[in-house]
Formats: sequence, C-alpha cells, structure tokens
Amino acid sequence: SVFNCNVIELNKIHNRAGNITVVENHVNIPFDVKRVYYLYDVPGGETRGGHAHYHLQQLIVAASGSFDVILDDGRAKRTVSLNRPNFGLYVTPGIWRELVNFSSGAVLLVLASMRYDERDYIRDYAEYKLSL
Ligand code: TYD
Repeated sequence: SVFNCNVIELNKIHNRAGNITVVENHVNIPFDVKRVYYLYDVPGGETRGGHAHYHLQQLIVAASGSFDVILDDGRAKRTVSLNRPNFGLYVTPGIWRELVNFSSGAVLLVLASMRYDERDYIRDYAEYKLSL
C-alpha cells in the first residue's frame, strides 16, 4: 500500500566544502540497484510518471530542486514532497505514481531494482485497477 512507501533519511557527510550522500544496496535501501536514471529539464507545469510497475522497486531522490510524488494504490492516495538530496522515497511494486510540481532546475534521480523492461509497466489506469 502507499503507506509502505517510506521516505528514507539518507546519511549526509557534511563539511565546509559541501556534502556527500551515499546509497548502498541493502544498507539504506532494501534492494540491489540495477539501473540509475535521472529526469531533468522538465518544463514548468509538466507532469510525468502516470504508471505503475508489477515488480520494480525504486528509490526516488530530489538530487536538485523539488517536486511532488503522488502515490496511489487504488484505495488511498498520498502526496510526498521531495526537496532535499539526503532523503529518498522508497516506492514498492504495484503503486501508481505521478510526478508533479517540478521546480525549475529539478533533478529527479531514480535508483531502480531492475533493468528497463516495458513489460513491467502498467500505463493505463483502468488496467492498473483491474490488476489489483
Ligand atoms: P517513461 O517511463 O514513460 O517516463 P515517465 O514515467 O518518467 O514520464 O519513459 C519515457 C521514455 O523513456 C519511454 O519511451 C521509455 C524510455 N525509457 C527507457 O528506454 N529506459 C529507461 O530506463 C526509462 C526509465 C525510460
């Protein structure tokens, strides 16, 4: 359910010359990262996402800027705002998500548990509801 999609506080190695955040498989996240991608140059007012996955797990991080993630499990909806690089939203399989309210310069970093496979996507909301 959307209530199992937790915001994980990551570490922050801080010094006067800047910060480092480290993510390690099975240390801060409960899966092995198989793929990393990032979304950027999102035009103002644009919405992304609009799909669910059968199996994929993800950690979504606002590496820069901010945006909101709307999570929907077919029963409950929850909106999570991400705006700090040392926090990540863990998205479990089977959750419909939309990405909205991107600030200018936002970079949405995704750590994913599987390689890209279009067969793992549900892109139609009616089909998603039927899959539950
Ligand atoms: P899509 O998942 O639809 O983007 P979003 O949900 O963020 O709006 O992906 C957009 C396009 O990029 C689509 O044609 C599939 C392609 N794509 C890959 O080829 N590999 C990937 O790892 C990802 C995430 C997307």
